[in-house]
Amino acid sequence: MIKVICTDSYEALCKQVSRVFAAQITLKPNSTLGLATGSTPIGVYSELAQMVAEGRLSLSQVQTLNLDEYVGLGAEDDQSYRYFMNHQLFDRVDIDKSRTHVPNGLAQDPQAEAARYEQLVASMGGVDIQLLGIGNNGHIGFNEPCDHFPMQTHTVALTESTIQANARFFADASQVPTQAITMGIGTIFAAKKIILMANGPKKAQILLDTVAGPVTPQVPASILQLHPDATVYCDAEAGALLRQHGLVD
Ligand code: GLP
Repeated sequence: MIKVICTDSYEALCKQVSRVFAAQITLKPNSTLGLATGSTPIGVYSELAQMVAEGRLSLSQVQTLNLDEYVGLGAEDDQSYRYFMNHQLFDRVDIDKSRTHVPNGLAQDPQAEAARYEQLVASMGGVDIQLLGIGNNGHIGFNEPCDHFPMQTHTVALTESTIQANARFFADASQVPTQAITMGIGTIFAAKKIILMANGPKKAQILLDTVAGPVTPQVPASILQLHPDATVYCDAEAGALLRQHGLVD
């Protein structure tokens, strides 16, 4: 069973998750953090930046590994995940960018880049704590629903529903890249500790499927039911169906 922690609001959710990360970094300053993009973790990054600004936390010794990147977008593109991470976190804290890693969306050969990234994760000794959001269809990173759990970092064609969901960040859906490089489910699962965050009513059904449905690659996040240290942190809206089914403390 995945542990579920439900908070009243998005603000409370971000405070709780940021404290888990702060504890990890305080206890092991050279932790390897697995980081995620999307709108969900933005508040966590703000909390961490504030802790650093107030001198309560330092990220100077951590290393970071992001889950994924769009194929075709570089650091200067404001829709790339590298740009997002620089603006939401790295430029606001005391970390040298050389310690931060995101797959290179502009690599000539995306498959070779995926293999390089998988090697990089291994050479860094794996991820100590992995932050995840969740797509409306249950994707984590960009591991879309399919007939098997992809093990390693790979290139993937985005589903129409993900392209439509992510179009809100672009001028229109035709601008959304159709391919991405993402850590595999195996890469993600190897993290020692996993925190999956969700907020808002749109995530209620997929959270129920993730926590209490069958473990199936059709709901990629459902694999977390089998992880020894995975916790779902959600706000009241995202946790509404979990609560209805008695799955929240
Ligand atoms: C993207 C990312 C995922 C993220 C998802 C949900 O597809 N690749 O890592 O979890 O969006 O985004 P949001 O947090 O905006 O709902």
